[in-house]
Amino acid sequence: MIRIYKAKDYEAMSHMAADFIASQIILKPNCVLGLATGTTPIGTYNWLRKKYEDGRLDFSEVHTVNLDEYVGLAGDDPNSYRYFMNTYLFDHVNIDKFSTHVEDGTAKSLKKECQRYEKLIRSLGGVDLQLLGIGNNGHIGFCEPADAFSRVTHIENLTESTIQANSRLFEDISQVPTRALTMGVGTIMRARRILLIASGSAKQDAIRDSFFGDITPRVPASALQLHQDVTVIADEEALAKCDMGDDDVIVV
Ligand code: PGA
Repeated sequence: MIRIYKAKDYEAMSHMAADFIASQIILKPNCVLGLATGTTPIGTYNWLRKKYEDGRLDFSEVHTVNLDEYVGLAGDDPNSYRYFMNTYLFDHVNIDKFSTHVEDGTAKSLKKECQRYEKLIRSLGGVDLQLLGIGNNGHIGFCEPADAFSRVTHIENLTESTIQANSRLFEDISQVPTRALTMGVGTIMRARRILLIASGSAKQDAIRDSFFGDITPRVPASALQLHQDVTVIADEEALAKCDMGDDDVIVV
């Protein structure tokens, strides 16, 4: 079941998403959060930091597993997703860094690293709440459109459109890694609860196709239609091609 909330703009989306994640932490202080990187969750992380600073949230028992990491980038590389997480969230709250996990994109054996990561998620008892962004092409994590849904954490070749979209964060497009380690669609689907956030007109087609179109690995996020507990919080622009009538929340 998918519940879609319409937020007025990016700020409102971020606030609502932070409330949602905070509720999870309050309900289960030692929960396992699946976290995402990208431009979309930055506002959400800012609000979570604020809640912590205001004494309203305690991360001391929280565990985190991130969706993905670029192949070849070490954790101290400013473009790595480990660096992103430290910068936007972990360095500012009372989380134990040893309880935060991101794939190692520099592992000698990437295949073994994928297996290790999948086992790690299992050993933590699975993900309670997985936060997702969505790619312009409907990808989740770095699971790109394909002939089949990926089952577990794996090495993914990034599509031209993803490399293009992510190049804005690099000095030059030639510096964007062409491969990443990512949870599989199957890994994501095993999370007990999923929160997908989206903002802006570039996401309109992806949101419409994922939640109102066919379930197909050509649109990886469409697999979420088969999950029993998905919440989408998106702003008006991202939802402009979805018919929600006058409603601010619908169930599909
Ligand atoms: P973005 O990326 O938040 O930077 O738009 C989302 C994604 O690619 O999953």
